[in-house]
Amino acid sequence: MGSATIQGSLWNHNPSGWNIQERLHIPIVEAMLSTANVATGTRILDAGCGTGTASVLAAARGAKVTGIDAAEGLITFVSKAVPDGCFTVGDIQSFDFPDESFGVVFAANCVQYAEDPIATLREFKRVCKKGGTVVACLFGPPENIDYKAVFSATKAAMPPPPADAKPGGPFALSAPGILEALFKDAGLEITGTGKANCPFSYDNFAQKWEYSLGAGPYQGMMKVIGESKMKEAIQLGCKNFTHDDGSIVFPTNEFIYVAGKA
Ligand SMILES: C[S@@+](CC[C@H](N)C(=O)[O-])C[C@H]1O[C@@H](n2cnc3c(N)ncnc32)[C@H](O)[C@@H]1O
Repeated sequence: MGSATIQGSLWNHNPSGWNIQERLHIPIVEAMLSTANVATGTRILDAGCGTGTASVLAAARGAKVTGIDAAEGLITFVSKAVPDGCFTVGDIQSFDFPDESFGVVFAANCVQYAEDPIATLREFKRVCKKGGTVVACLFGPPENIDYKAVFSATKAAMPPPPADAKPGGPFALSAPGILEALFKDAGLEITGTGKANCPFSYDNFAQKWEYSLGAGPYQGMMKVIGESKMKEAIQLGCKNFTHDDGSIVFPTNEFIYVAGKA
């Protein structure tokens, strides 16, 4: 069994809030669509599509878009945003699609949430046409991520993890070479790597909090420490990035992608 049941429940709380954050990822999404040559007629699978920022941009390039996500509310959101697309609730680690269904399998910021990332990339390879492209992105290493201030503040607000807890967190697969190694283990031939800076900019804390209510990991933490402690921790993490007018800007967040041939 994959992680879809638990992840689906965590990411289902505030689709329009999550969409605020998702649109901040557009620079890396566009870089990935370009490297995969997504254009008119491309059959693309947007795996872990969320509210569908990538699906919208792929459709604007003329692609035929299919999307899958664990969270039903996000699938409802993207189905309205891309009415010609085909969107379903499911697990990215185990699809019902036949072999070689897509020319491009695209996965932005989701492989780290799969139960087994290698099995997930193998599944991407299976549903990708021979010679087609699988492309996935993640947060880059923490030293290039201003937003780590918020991750550190929220982590500090949590009780220590049990000794036998699986290593995880937003940077679990972000160290140099890890995503490339997973691609190779899954039998994908690496054809390119790249990065893009995605500044995170919010009008005010209310907007930042609205997005936070849509983010699965924060929902998971709120189950443990409650909403008010979570809000305090996020406010603390934003402190050094808050301007006099109340806007909050994290200027440097480098996302990395790997592309491979199926
Ligand atoms: C950080 S969001 C990324 C959304 C979008 N792709 C983007 O780049 O902004 C992670 C998404 O992966 C989905 N997800 C996590 N684990 C999943 C799984 N096992 N199967 C399907 N979707 C999953 C979540 O529901 C969520 O929409």
